[in-house]
Amino acid sequence: MRRESSIHGQWSSKLVFILAATGSAVGLGNIWRFPYIAGENGGGAFVLIYLACILLIGLPIMMAEIALGRRGRQSPINTMATLSREEGLHRAWGFVGWLGVAAGFIILSYYSVIAGWSLSYVFRAAGGAFTGLDADGVRGMFNALVSDPERLLAWHTLFMIMNVLVVARGVRSGLEKAVKFLMPALFGLLLLLVGYSMSQGHFMEGVSFLFKPDWSEVSGDTILLAMGQAFFTLSLGMGAIMIYGSYLSSKASILKTSATVVSADTAVALLAGLAIFPIVFASGLAPGEGPGLIFITLPMAFAEMPGGLIFGTLFFLLLVTAAWTSSISLMEPAVAWLVENRGFDRPMAAVIVGGIAWFLGLGTILSFSLWSNPIGFSLTIGGEATFIGGTLFEMADYLTSNIMLPLGGLLIALFVGWRMTQRSVEDELGLHSRVLFKAWYYVLRFAAPIGILLVFLKAVNLI
Ligand code: PFF
Ligand code: NA
Repeated sequence: MRRESSIHGQWSSKLVFILAATGSAVGLGNIWRFPYIAGENGGGAFVLIYLACILLIGLPIMMAEIALGRRGRQSPINTMATLSREEGLHRAWGFVGWLGVAAGFIILSYYSVIAGWSLSYVFRAAGGAFTGLDADGVRGMFNALVSDPERLLAWHTLFMIMNVLVVARGVRSGLEKAVKFLMPALFGLLLLLVGYSMSQGHFMEGVSFLFKPDWSEVSGDTILLAMGQAFFTLSLGMGAIMIYGSYLSSKASILKTSATVVSADTAVALLAGLAIFPIVFASGLAPGEGPGLIFITLPMAFAEMPGGLIFGTLFFLLLVTAAWTSSISLMEPAVAWLVENRGFDRPMAAVIVGGIAWFLGLGTILSFSLWSNPIGFSLTIGGEATFIGGTLFEMADYLTSNIMLPLGGLLIALFVGWRMTQRSVEDELGLHSRVLFKAWYYVLRFAAPIGILLVFLKAVNLI
């Protein structure tokens, strides 16, 4: 059954949906996570596998998620339950919604801490703190920040309050306005940074690191990390895009909007990589610097370039805004459910969700100081001993990006591709071209789920 609107509201236009979904997609995942994970995993091969995952798994699953959301028009938990009933399927499919809500809490808990780092860097940049620093200087500054739990707590708290304020006001006010201005500005600044990187003499080294694959270094885990990054960066597998789809008008084209969001997200990630790696090589740093990578490389660029004070401030400000428009989408599935099923008003629901995620975030804060020793155990699978564990931050990040989101995506592909009737799927997707529909349906039914399964099996050395 087609539903025309959600009780939570509707985007004022198709363009606004694109902006909001792009706002959700483009965030720390592109500018902070993509470069550091690519750097830790050897560059080129990782990037190419990531791009393949975006196209073969990400794009088709994004379309499926939007279609599900728009058909159900409720929080992901209730959308999955309603559609299962409507299609005569087992109610256990509601699990997909719950899995997403759990992933949303865990991601938000650490996302907010990293956004807090960015907030703190806005003020450092504006105060001229980068001036005259070399690689060791910026690294020292970063280490001093992350090993100070009280300061991290203050920034984390501030960022979480910012999220609650926007989410409390609902989908239309606030959010829509922010993204319209943000995306072009962020794009412009990234281009400027790439321009700076080109002038530093190590540009081609950065390019070849990012795009020249060394297949001999690729392990099952590299592939899993690349696929996990594809899910994370596109906000897929946890219901964020699903709920944004539930506010989309029935007339909008799901294919065109998805293709736009995916292209914008990919462009921002690649630009970030092109900006950062040349600076890494020019300053003799290692690409595998870890989560601090952009906080160590970019300040050096801002310290040297003319107008660096202004550009640096603006850059971190835009990074915070990009993180902001992403983290509100992490809250939305749980908030909508609390409103639908527990009778809370939006502000109260936003406070509850923000409060829980804030508390969980303490684990990430301490992961860089008091609790920085990895916890876990050794496991032998397929003849290889592997250490399973890490800091709470590492575990939260690994579990969500590499397991929960792909698992959610797999279940969504199976639900839409194999369990819903083809008629409902076609009806909701509204693709005018038969050929395009068939191609998408085929990829969603076969390529995407088989791909995800193979990557899972390869990661645990079973194939
Ligand atoms: N896509 C966001 C980023 O790249 O920063 C992170 C994210 C947002 C992941 C929303 C998942 C999500 F549901
Ligand atoms: Na992203």
